[in-house]
Amino acid sequence: MLSSVIANQDVHQKFGGVVPELASRAHQQNIIPVVEVALQKAKITKNQLSAVAFTRGPGLLGSLLVGTSFAKAFAMGLNIPIIEVNHLKAHILSHFVEDETQQDHPEFPFLCLTVSGGHTQIVKVNSASDMEIIGKTIDDAAGEAFDKAAKIMGLPYPGGPEIDKLAKSGDSLAFSFPEPRIGDLDYSFSGLKTSFLYFLRDRLKEDDNFIEKHKANLAASIQHTIISILMKKLRLAVKQTGLTQVAIAGGVSANSGLRNAIEQEAENSGWSVFLPPFKYTTDNAAMIAVAGYFKYLENDFAPQSITPYARGGF
Ligand code: KG4
Ligand code: ZN
Repeated sequence: MLSSVIANQDVHQKFGGVVPELASRAHQQNIIPVVEVALQKAKITKNQLSAVAFTRGPGLLGSLLVGTSFAKAFAMGLNIPIIEVNHLKAHILSHFVEDETQQDHPEFPFLCLTVSGGHTQIVKVNSASDMEIIGKTIDDAAGEAFDKAAKIMGLPYPGGPEIDKLAKSGDSLAFSFPEPRIGDLDYSFSGLKTSFLYFLRDRLKEDDNFIEKHKANLAASIQHTIISILMKKLRLAVKQTGLTQVAIAGGVSANSGLRNAIEQEAENSGWSVFLPPFKYTTDNAAMIAVAGYFKYLENDFAPQSITPYARGGF
């Protein structure tokens, strides 16, 4: 990997969540300067490119349209092919980015717990192109559970990293919240959000300062519950598939509690675990490039008529 540039969108913070229309406008403003800086940092010119990979979906359609349109036009101008990439497969393939960190990557097949703001999946990764979702959330994603809990506590968006920070000085067993009963390898997080909301509503009736006084313990306890839910199904997936190489990916894989829990499991149960470098946990272009690289080797190119999708496409 020669360069990786991310333009963060601060515009959403004052709204407490991503505003889709503002996101696509910010993408439009950022895309040309970001590509230019990426080329400069890589010390290459656009004429040295072999293909352009882009995120086709899932995600916010307006933002995907900006990227898709840019990729098409850029590649057409250079007379090179385009490669469509699935956002979630790319999170998984971020483990294969080759850069200065020289991390070990898993061997196929392996299991990956993909935990982001929009998705929570357990995936059996047979190869770069053959992946099977064996468990998923039926409602909220794990990242959403973090963000919503943070919002209820009055913390800024995105709440996941805020909860992570606060949790470090809290007692994870101070409060307990019910875990969902749901079959197979599936997840559910919407009940947790509701019970957290009702729990705080009742406590606030007795003490206006309840959240402020117990911030760290609340963060540690909700984080502990989310991780416990994630780990139970992951253990079951290992049991069912017999695969003991386990990776995590997506924004929530930056969570220090989840990283500790999975490393602990490696010690206790002999799993080989793979944690992505922090910079590749949340959305980034390096993971799209590496997913594109695997497709490039297969000559798997997309036509100029291709359109993005908001959902599905795995
Ligand atoms: O993969 P990602 O960057 O975007 C999506 O594709 O959704 O994931 C973003 C999600 C957000 O919900 C954010 O709160 C969560 O990842 N996140 C974290 C942490 N860092 C990011 N959640 C918990 N702990 C963190 N340290
Ligand atoms: Zn993502």
